Amino acid sequence: MKLLRNNIADMQGYVPGYQPPDVASWIKLNTNENPYPPSPAVREAILAEVGSDGAALRTYPSSSSQALREAAAELYGFDPSWIIMANGSDEVLNNLIRACAGEGEEVGFVHPSYSYYATLAEIQGATVRTFGFAEDGTIAGFPERYQGKIFFLTSPNSPLGTTFPLPYVEELAGRCAGLLVVDEAYADFADSNALELVRKCENVVVTRTFSKSYSLAGMRLGLAVARPEIVAALDKIRDHYNLDRLAQVACVAALKDQPYFAENCRKICATREWFSRELLALGYQVLPSQANFVFAAPPDRNGQRVYDALYREKILVRLLSDPLLSHGLRISIGTDQEMQRTVQVLKSIA
Ligand SMILES: Cc1ncc(COP(=O)(O)O)c(C=O)c1O
Repeated sequence: MKLLRNNIADMQGYVPGYQPPDVASWIKLNTNENPYPPSPAVREAILAEVGSDGAALRTYPSSSSQALREAAAELYGFDPSWIIMANGSDEVLNNLIRACAGEGEEVGFVHPSYSYYATLAEIQGATVRTFGFAEDGTIAGFPERYQGKIFFLTSPNSPLGTTFPLPYVEELAGRCAGLLVVDEAYADFADSNALELVRKCENVVVTRTFSKSYSLAGMRLGLAVARPEIVAALDKIRDHYNLDRLAQVACVAALKDQPYFAENCRKICATREWFSRELLALGYQVLPSQANFVFAAPPDRNGQRVYDALYREKILVRLLSDPLLSHGLRISIGTDQEMQRTVQVLKSIA
């Protein structure tokens, strides 16, 4: 229990000692949510499903989330048997570990990346092995043949925002004896993705979330694209009705409104580029981001000082206690107005 409590506190981006703020009135840039609402079609679909008396809610939803699988399959150019829908991509990450890694078996990932893999693996009794980055951005000491059951590659990386080049991802797939799971929670903000490798390499799985680019963190929606035999294994161990009715109609509506989605992503990337330039002008070290956040370090490399200053102005960003990361902050991209206010505060403490 202690492990879980610590992890949840850390995920929210609160520094121990602070009370969680009343975030509704704050500028909230700590968990990489989308600052814009989902497509208006999502609200309409949810209202239509609820209807005037909510009668549809009496009955169970589609167990297979078939309409979503079909909508996602069409969008990504796969057969629906290659898609599995999940109650947030965290669910599919968890089920991949449950399906592939038993007690004492190894799961690997890069550090720093998404710390939740370790929690999920530990709950399962699997062992965890982490690898750092080499100077050239590749993975330091990655074996010629990695024998772990799963290697999670977060691309774009969180909290860094950087991506791994596709040929390198393909090379890693060839070096993994088990699955290579490319966690693409942020890929919709990036110039490339690894979907084509799912077709090319039999051990590659790509996971996506609707929490970021589709503005649906509150609905808990994610998916994986993988070979049908992997999808079938994941289907066996998921909850029967893992997606509720409202999540299912919301997801289909969001997937079908691609023009809204594309414009939303475009705006966030444009704001990200503007914000990165402003930080550079203030002397910050800014990693080139392909996600909806940036990792940036102030000139004095004192992340805590900048975190505190922003906190006093009711701007919540993510300070990570890890010694590799505490010199900087991960800052989600909000609206233009929110980022202008953030820059204003950063200028006042420069
Ligand atoms: C890299 C990465 N993977 C997965 C997730 C989980 O996403 P979801 O909200 O779909 O569970 C996150 C959430 O922040 C993330 O950063």
